[in-house]
Amino acid sequence: MQRNELCWCGSGKKYKKCHAAYDERLDEMRFNVFKGQVRPPHRVINNAHDIAGIRQAGIINDGALDLMDTMVKPGVTTAELDKAVHDFIVDHGAVPGDLNYEGFPKSCCTSINDIVCHGIPSSKVRLKEGDIVNVDITTVLNGYYADASRMYMVGEVSPAAERLVRVTKECMEIGIAAAKPWHFVGDIGAACGAHAHENGYGVVTELGGHGVGKGYHLEPFVSHDTHAGTGMLLVPGMTLTVEPMINEGTWKTYTDKTGDGWTVRTKDKKLSAQWESTILITETGAEVLSS
Ligand code: MF3
Ligand code: CO
Ligand code: CO
Repeated sequence: MQRNELCWCGSGKKYKKCHAAYDERLDEMRFNVFKGQVRPPHRVINNAHDIAGIRQAGIINDGALDLMDTMVKPGVTTAELDKAVHDFIVDHGAVPGDLNYEGFPKSCCTSINDIVCHGIPSSKVRLKEGDIVNVDITTVLNGYYADASRMYMVGEVSPAAERLVRVTKECMEIGIAAAKPWHFVGDIGAACGAHAHENGYGVVTELGGHGVGKGYHLEPFVSHDTHAGTGMLLVPGMTLTVEPMINEGTWKTYTDKTGDGWTVRTKDKKLSAQWESTILITETGAEVLSS
């Protein structure tokens, strides 16, 4: 592209005043294809307008999660949680990203105990004392997506469950701390995975984080248990999720095909926990846009 043309990022600025130096820096880099290092394509970069949109979606998404903080209690059904999430998002002029996503029937995921992810809210499922539950919510505002989840301990839970929930949150935070510009996406998973293994836990690898923002599940894939210095280079303007799924026992999971076709469970029926944030790669590190 010519230096006086408008930049490919859509900022409206001249290329020479916008991403020209960035492209030159990438041109000088040598990506090690044997390590699976990938140069980030232009489509993964968000401009300031996109970032503002994703940030707004994140604010509504956080509001829906805050509502869950007040509602998750013994006796509540997951359908009641789902309805509250749906109404909150719609009342704020947005759309629940999960509703009708590839046929998903509800507005959020509620994943209890041995459910790893994608649990479907139901009027037949009532939370009970001792459960741990993840509520995962995605908000779409003006076409921009934000995706985050939190764990809840229902009443008093076992010390083992409490430790799993705490360490899983630490895995997410350590992963976010490793998400730095000009480092690799694999650095996130190396940091998450090491912390989980130090604590004797299994890390789910069939599913992972993802680019998010101008769509729901975008590149790059974010593994939570991999090698540093691998995968796509992280650069300013990228938005992605860090969402480790950490298991008390085996990392192995299964999807019950005779059931709803969505619910992912641990193979050994032991507990699983997950925390998720949407983050923005900045010039200096990562900024959390929804958590
Ligand atoms: N929010 C999930 C994620 O973190 C995806 C849920 S898709 C659904 O990527 F269809 F199960 F809702
Ligand atoms: Co999610
Ligand atoms: Co996600």
